[in-house]
Amino acid sequence: MKAVQIKEYGGIDVLELSSDIQKPVSAKGYVLVEVYAASINPVDWKIRAGFFKEMAPIQFPATMGGDFAGVVAEVGGEVTEFKTDDEVYGSALVLNGGSGSFAELLSARVENTAFKPKSVHFIEAAALPLVGSSAIQALEEHITLQSRQKILIHGGAGGIGHVAIQLAKILGAYVTTTVSTNDMDFVKQLGADEVIDYKNQQFETVLKDFDAVFDTVGGEITNKSLDVLKRGGILVSMAGEPDKDEAEKRGITAISQFTQTNTNHLNRLTKLVDSGKVNVSVDKVFPLEEAKQAFSYQEEIHPKGKVVFKII
Ligand SMILES: NC(=O)c1ccc[n+]([C@@H]2O[C@H](COP(=O)([O-])OP(=O)(O)OC[C@H]3O[C@@H](n4cnc5c(N)ncnc54)[C@H](OP(=O)(O)O)[C@@H]3O)[C@@H](O)[C@H]2O)c1
Repeated sequence: MKAVQIKEYGGIDVLELSSDIQKPVSAKGYVLVEVYAASINPVDWKIRAGFFKEMAPIQFPATMGGDFAGVVAEVGGEVTEFKTDDEVYGSALVLNGGSGSFAELLSARVENTAFKPKSVHFIEAAALPLVGSSAIQALEEHITLQSRQKILIHGGAGGIGHVAIQLAKILGAYVTTTVSTNDMDFVKQLGADEVIDYKNQQFETVLKDFDAVFDTVGGEITNKSLDVLKRGGILVSMAGEPDKDEAEKRGITAISQFTQTNTNHLNRLTKLVDSGKVNVSVDKVFPLEEAKQAFSYQEEIHPKGKVVFKII
């Protein structure tokens, strides 16, 4: 079968499309999936670049990719949740015990798989698992965002941010978001109440008394965000390590989130998408043959929403 693999850590040049890869097996607790589409997340290039090589080394050659949508081809032992021909989506990231999704076939753990939303095509479904699970876990579980609360979402035009804006509006919150100048209209259309152009304005000098900050950017943004929160507020960061001592002094809860792309989050996402309340933005679709161009688009151009591989 065809798959995009790496044989060493490195830049875009280490990505290789090979057509003679052995198909993965459907072991106990796993499903084998014929992949229709798969999407790129920043974690994919971070794995490729070796960011996690000390904490979670991978075995080479490794098939890249986590998020997928496709059709169950086989089920492994003790799998009762799915059967052949079910339309599913989820994560097959190697760090999640999967075989990698940028391939014609993958194996994924049952607990990282769910029935795909029926109302969208495989392309859109493949764009959703990690970004949707991240938004749900942060807003509904850590922040428990309530109607009329004020939330600041950093990076509102990105994969996670654009889903988080929609979810925060469904939950009845007042949503402020930070984006670059040419993404301002995009996030207004998603429902953002107030948009800060981070290229021209410093959010920490104009915002105050927020109940929550959802930070999908990291760097200095993470701790600057403490300045806009009120006592009793909460900061959840996807990409930064908040200063917990400083947060505690100010009566703020600050956490860094590790997203679980699990069946519970995926099932909740399926409901939100099938009820028409959450739409995913697919900025660009590539074939596997253009893996290098697709990674470069994700890493350097920064999509509005997601970059997806169409595999079937
Ligand atoms: N911890 C976990 O379990 C976990 C899970 C998923 C993702 N993540 C991490 O979460 C982060 C976000 O993921 P994603 O999929 O949403 O990435 P993404 O699609 O690349 O989105 C990031 C967005 O942030 C914007 N941005 C950059 N600098 C900014 C600034 N100073 N202020 C406001 N916006 C800014 C970017 O836009 P422009 O640069 O074009 O303006 C882009 O739209 C990544 O670092 C990812 O690795 C962590």
